[in-house]
Amino acid sequence: MGTDNEPGRGDRVAPPSGFVGSANVTAGIREEFAEEGVEAWARAADLLDWDREYETVLRDDGGLEWFADGRLNAAANCLDRHLEERKNRVALRWEGATGDARTYTYLDLHREVNEAAAALRDLGVEADDVVTTYLPNVPELVVTMLACARLGALHNVVFAGFSADELAARLRRTESGYLVTCDGYYRRGNAVNQLTTADNARMAVDHAVETVVVGRLDDGVYLSDDHRRYEDLLDGHRGETVAPVARDATDPLFVIYTSGTTGEPSRVTHTTGGYLAHVAWTGHSVLDIKPTDTHWCAADAAWITGHSYMVYAPLALGATTLLYEGAPDQPAKDRLWGLVERHRVDTFYTASTAVRAFMKWGEEYPASHDLSSLRLLGMVGEPIDPRAWNWYRDHVGRRECPVVDTWWQTETGGVLVSTVPGVDDMKPGSAGPAVPGVDVAAVDREGDPVAEGDPGHLAVTTPWPGMSRSLAREAGGAGDDWLYVTSDRAVVDGDGYVTFLGREDDTVTVGNTAFGPATLESAVIETDGVAEAAVVESSERGGTAVAYVCTERGRSGDAAMRERIADHVAERLGPTARFGAIVFTPDLPKTHSGKIMRRLLGAIADGEEYGDTSALRNPETVGEIETVVDDG
Ligand code: WT7
Repeated sequence: MGTDNEPGRGDRVAPPSGFVGSANVTAGIREEFAEEGVEAWARAADLLDWDREYETVLRDDGGLEWFADGRLNAAANCLDRHLEERKNRVALRWEGATGDARTYTYLDLHREVNEAAAALRDLGVEADDVVTTYLPNVPELVVTMLACARLGALHNVVFAGFSADELAARLRRTESGYLVTCDGYYRRGNAVNQLTTADNARMAVDHAVETVVVGRLDDGVYLSDDHRRYEDLLDGHRGETVAPVARDATDPLFVIYTSGTTGEPSRVTHTTGGYLAHVAWTGHSVLDIKPTDTHWCAADAAWITGHSYMVYAPLALGATTLLYEGAPDQPAKDRLWGLVERHRVDTFYTASTAVRAFMKWGEEYPASHDLSSLRLLGMVGEPIDPRAWNWYRDHVGRRECPVVDTWWQTETGGVLVSTVPGVDDMKPGSAGPAVPGVDVAAVDREGDPVAEGDPGHLAVTTPWPGMSRSLAREAGGAGDDWLYVTSDRAVVDGDGYVTFLGREDDTVTVGNTAFGPATLESAVIETDGVAEAAVVESSERGGTAVAYVCTERGRSGDAAMRERIADHVAERLGPTARFGAIVFTPDLPKTHSGKIMRRLLGAIADGEEYGDTSALRNPETVGEIETVVDDG
């Protein structure tokens, strides 16, 4: 293996020349932002249609107001304004878990969103009310989100796999009086009764919750008098239109809960103008989405990734967005590549952990499909090691697509750190510089910059349009002193490129040196035959680290492999970088949004109680890991 897996230190990769010539954003963009300062963000606002022009790009009125005094409607920006030019172009393509498919043109989607908005209004939904959804990735979820946006109501999308308790907590905390759910859906080939779970949640909250039920299974699930069928409601409003409610740029568009991988989920509210401008601009400049494209963000619409880059950005830009229900390995491990081929996907965006899973499954899956339509590959969610980065570029992108590793958070609304694909060189394993108009730095606990090349907390030192309402409030009045310090550990190199080391809570100390998990994991993954790894600290094992390792298919995790991993890591990171145990496991526990649950792995290593595993996509792996943990 000739490649250097140390994140961000390998060879620079220039943007493919075939891409550069037709990129949405070209050389000079960074200079333009640097010269124009905050005014440069007018570009983002210019991608939208405003009912009333904004007065200033950024006003500090005790709280920050992006595009102050401007008024707009997000649904009108995603639908109505496209009707003139592309009413019969496809807005949304959908493939269900059981192979069923639907296609909505902009005209179709506009019609159904209007009918749904009329129906919701009839139920009593008004501007600023919170409407909760509890649906899998089905078109009705997108329709409901946009119907809320049309009415100026806030959607509160809850992941369909969450328990009744989690749904109840979100209904309660948002005082949401409306719920759109479904009778059931298919998960891994089995029908799930969603309505019973939704009803249990409703019974657990004190206020009344008006409930609309989408017929996803239509197999005789019993509906009682207080359930309203989505289809019947819409039938009562066929052909009706609802005037989009003009919202202040700073008015809320939706609420969403953070994933809670490391702590309690917290509520985040995004604005209408700043958020929409930010996601449209980054969809245009970072994901290079063009109106003629089919863009696929292979995520669940319930996460911020789905909100920003599956729904709002591609539709605001007039593209075709692809929505899929189910899992990447169901019915087979080439599901995604079949979708890319069938729908001629242009721009593809997925989770970094998904990329490592593709690598583990093997290159024959992407190789068995025609992926030549792909023009750009993106990823988000966790640090990626250079080997997986290169695998993605080679086996999915045929070395012809730029790869954007985008860093952002639920709180940031949209991408803040990424290369601009037609402009910047890529450094495998490094997310890249902050996007134009944004500044970042590695800082210490006090918020002071650390020495160049030293690890620190990643801090964002300038405001950005997609910032949540509470960050905008907090930044108000603070002037240049404000900075947003995250729990992500990172190194910023001399070129301003950011290499993420992992979350602060996941730092691993071995031989008196504190390592970001990503540094140790990259070194492990670099060993020939390793596909995925997670390294956690174990207090039980004398403060040593435990490496959980998944091998590539056809390779066995044996004593020889264990020795090679240990030798390689010591060679790479120094002789004190020794693991207390190396545990081979078929899979790593991951959350529904694709993050490795390192906290849980630490608890297993220490033989501690780890509690509820319902936040996991693959809870069965926990038992498997427990049976092998002592073999390491
Ligand atoms: C956390 C935010 C943004 C949508 C997905 C998750 C981690 C995200 C990267 C990346 C390294 C990343 C960070 C961040 N993260 N992207 N490209 N490289 N780490 O949103 O659930 O709010 O999680 O995901 O730790 O803080 P989220």
